[in-house]
Parts: sequence; structure tokens; C-alpha cells
Amino acid sequence: MADETPHPFLHGLSKHRGSPPTVVVIFGASGDLTARKLIPAIYNLAHDGLLPTDFYLIGFGRKPIPDAEFQQIAAGAIKEFSRREPTADVWGRLAPRTLYVSGGYDEKAAFDRLGDRIAGLEKEIGQQLQSLFYISTPPTVFAPIIRNLGASGLAARHLGQRHQSKVIIEKPFGRDLASAQTLNRELTAVFEESQVFRIDHYLGKETVQDLLVQRFANSIFEPIWNRNFIDHVQITVAEQVGVEARAGYYEQSGCLRDMIQNHTMQLLALTAMEPPVSMDAESVRDEKVKVLKAIQPLRLDGPDPDAARAQYGEGLIGGKPVKGYLEEKDVAPASATETYAALRLRINNWRWQGVPFYLRSGKHLARRVSEIAVRFKRPPGSLFAESERFQLAPNTLAFQIQPDEGLSLVLNAKIPGLETRTQPVKMNFKYATTFGSNTPEAYERLVLDAMIGDGTLFIRGDETERSWQLITPIHEKWAAQGRTGMDTYASGSWGPKTAVDLLSVNGHNWREP
Ligand code: BG6
Repeated sequence: MADETPHPFLHGLSKHRGSPPTVVVIFGASGDLTARKLIPAIYNLAHDGLLPTDFYLIGFGRKPIPDAEFQQIAAGAIKEFSRREPTADVWGRLAPRTLYVSGGYDEKAAFDRLGDRIAGLEKEIGQQLQSLFYISTPPTVFAPIIRNLGASGLAARHLGQRHQSKVIIEKPFGRDLASAQTLNRELTAVFEESQVFRIDHYLGKETVQDLLVQRFANSIFEPIWNRNFIDHVQITVAEQVGVEARAGYYEQSGCLRDMIQNHTMQLLALTAMEPPVSMDAESVRDEKVKVLKAIQPLRLDGPDPDAARAQYGEGLIGGKPVKGYLEEKDVAPASATETYAALRLRINNWRWQGVPFYLRSGKHLARRVSEIAVRFKRPPGSLFAESERFQLAPNTLAFQIQPDEGLSLVLNAKIPGLETRTQPVKMNFKYATTFGSNTPEAYERLVLDAMIGDGTLFIRGDETERSWQLITPIHEKWAAQGRTGMDTYASGSWGPKTAVDLLSVNGHNWREP
């Protein structure tokens, strides 16, 4: 276990990384994400001594709430959702710096009041504060918030040369290519690209960051990371939860927009991109955009389309019977929203020509598991051909993103004994065993990176547009089809038959992670 002694965050910056004096303003302060992830993330940064000496958190929302009440709400959120219990010491110092401003998102005067509040804090401490605006509201108010940050002068605040105001924007970043482009235009009318941090929390997961380290800090992978050795790649983001209380959002979104366009495409980009010239934000993102550009448009017509969709039916989750999607609260009885989506992608470049990339994600699946599985070609069968004696599996390198974070490699080994028999074996590296548990949550890393101004783990404007360019024709097609062609799968299973067919035409099958 890591050292749990709280660091006195008021007495200095991290030993390694430092942010200037900062005020974080959360728009959507009473939202679910704020309570579950954002406030706990800030608390844990405080606990680890990673916040600057002069740090403030301001919640902004429509509902008028006094500071003291917001502090209680924040304390409750930390108690319920933080990976650590709040301590009197750390929370005692953070609480008086946790404030609240109320107002409408389209009300310019409210943003002026916010500006006055920040100016008041600066006067009190005799220093300027960097502002980090976190937009965590429903997407309908993204544009008014951005415009008012511009109109009130808050977006253009400078702190010295380097530390301008910054904005983190939550998903969904648009619902198709056109709306993503409009949102990018809104943002860049007010902010420079370097001030904008489009968040995808998967990029903050430890194991996702480790993917880059594994690929580029080891010499054994790069020579075989191509079409000569790799047969295909499977990216799975499986959830066991259903739609829960989020049908209002999910009915407008569906799996393709909710998970595939962002999380799985990001995993693909990191797996397939070329080595960047350096690990800085622009170099890494240049390579991600390049590989996304090399993905071929999907074939959606004909008997064997590159995309499959389905809804969960009844079934068993954790041994308990559960309802099908259409019976869930707030779901339209004839809803055409997919709860599962799978894609078959082709990357047309020197490295990946002919290597299929399969992506899948869904709710109410057998297990919660996210992984990237790289399946290698089989060796020539001249010495060991598959038989009863020689049980052989293709070598598979799997990055387990969650849970049970780790890296595993399937190899074929000799079973000890007087005759030669073989059996696949698994080499397993587990984070928890080597590094202990209680690793930082994705939002901790990402909020800190944005405070510091490091955009490496955030999505650039051109990147999100390229991803939407690939995804938009799929949902247009599905929207036109309505429920025609919608497959179903039993809750608690590994998904629909159409997703199996997506691979079987190439002689492949989904691995059970
Ligand atoms: C979110 C989706 O982006 O990711 C949710 O909106 C999904 O529907 C969640 O449940 C999954 O995130 P994680 O970190 O639990 O895998």
C-alpha cells in the first residue's frame, strides 16, 4: 500500500509537477459527475500534495446554494465516492476554499459575478489565479457557457505568459460530425486550441497510459507490431451494468456515440499509431490523427456490413434476473437505441494493411472488462501441428485495462512428461501485485494535467472530427433503418450473433476475456 500520510498541500507543490495558483470552476456543480468523480478527484489531489498553495474550487450552477451548503455537499461526495476517506486535516484546509456561484448558463451577468468572485479572491491573496473552467453540464448549454466565458472576458485571462485560462469540456462532444464541427467553432471563437482540453476519461486510466510505455519503452514489441506478425486486434469495452437511471441521456446516445466514437476509438489510436517523435502533446496527437485518417470508411451495405448493433433482452446478471432494454424505465417501447455495437475496421497504411481491428462495447454483458487483445499469426505448422497431443493457441498479448489491470501473454509450452505434449499457458503481470492497489482515478490525472497545461491525454479538435467522420455514416444508416436489423442478446451473455458473424467471415472469433 502506498504511504497514506496526507501531504500539506497548502505548503507547496508536488515534488515533480507544479501548477500555478488556480481556481477550478465546475459548471454543472450539482451534477452526478461532479459528485462521483470531480470533487473526489480534487480531494485526492489535495491529499497527495498536488494542488498549488493557492487553490480554490468554485461550483457554478443554476440553483442558489450558499457556500457552506456546497461545502457540505462536497464533503458528502468525498465520503461516498472518493477512493480515500476524507481526513480532517486535508478537508479542513480544502473546505473553506470550496465556494459556490449561482446563475443561468445563458446569463452574462452571472459570469460577470463569477469574474468578480475570482477577482475578490485574487485581491485577498494578493496574487493572480489561473482559471480552469470545467464544463460538465448537459451538452445543450455548452455553447452558451462558452460564449459567456468569452463575453465576460474570463476566457482571455492571462497569468504571465504561459498560464492562460483553460477549459475542460466533457462528453458528449457533438452527436455527429456537423455538431462536433459547430462545437469546435464555438470553442475556437473564444479559446485557442492550446487552452481547450476535450476529455475522454479512458485516457486517464493507468493502463491506457501504460500502453504507450509498453509499446515505446520496450524494444521487443516494435519489430513485430505490424501486418507481418499480427493477425488481428480485438478491442473490448464490456460493461455489466445496464442503462440504470440514465435512459434520458442514453436514448439520445446509444452505444455507438456513448462508447465507440470516443473510448474504443482512442484505444485503437494508441494501439495502432506510429511512434511519435516525442511524447509531447502535439506529437502524440499528430500520430493519433494520422492513424485515424488511415481507417477506411466502413462498408455498411450488403449482406455482410462492417457494423453490428443490438439491444439487451432479459437475462441473468450476477445470477439475478434482469429486464430487457425495452422494459427499462424511460425507454421508448419501440426504441431503436443500441446497447451494443461492434465494428470491423481496416487501416490502410504500410503497417496495418490487411490486419482487421475489431471493436465492441455493450451494456449488460457477461462481465465488466476492458481489454486490447493483439493476436499474432500462428507459426508454420511443420513442427507442431494442432492435434490432440499438440494443443496450440495463437500467441495473444492482452492489455487488461480494467478491472484486474495487467498484461498477459498466451504462449504454447511443453507439458512436463516423457512424451512431448503441448498446452497453451499464460504469462500474467498484474498491477496490483507489483504496485499495490489504490492507484489514482483517471480524473485525478486529467484534472492535474489540465491545470499544468499538458494536453497529451486530451483529444484535439481535428481528432474528434475525424472520429465522428467515421462514425456518423453508421448512425445515419442505423437511424434510417430504425428497428429493422436490430439484433438482441440475452443480458449476461457476450453479445449478439451478428457480432460473431462480423469476425467469423474472416475465420476469427471473439475472445472471452
Ligand atoms: C461513460 C459512459 O463515458 O463511460 C457510460 O457514458 C459508461 O455509459 C462509462 O458506463 C464507463 O466508464 P468506466 O470508467 O466505468 O469504464
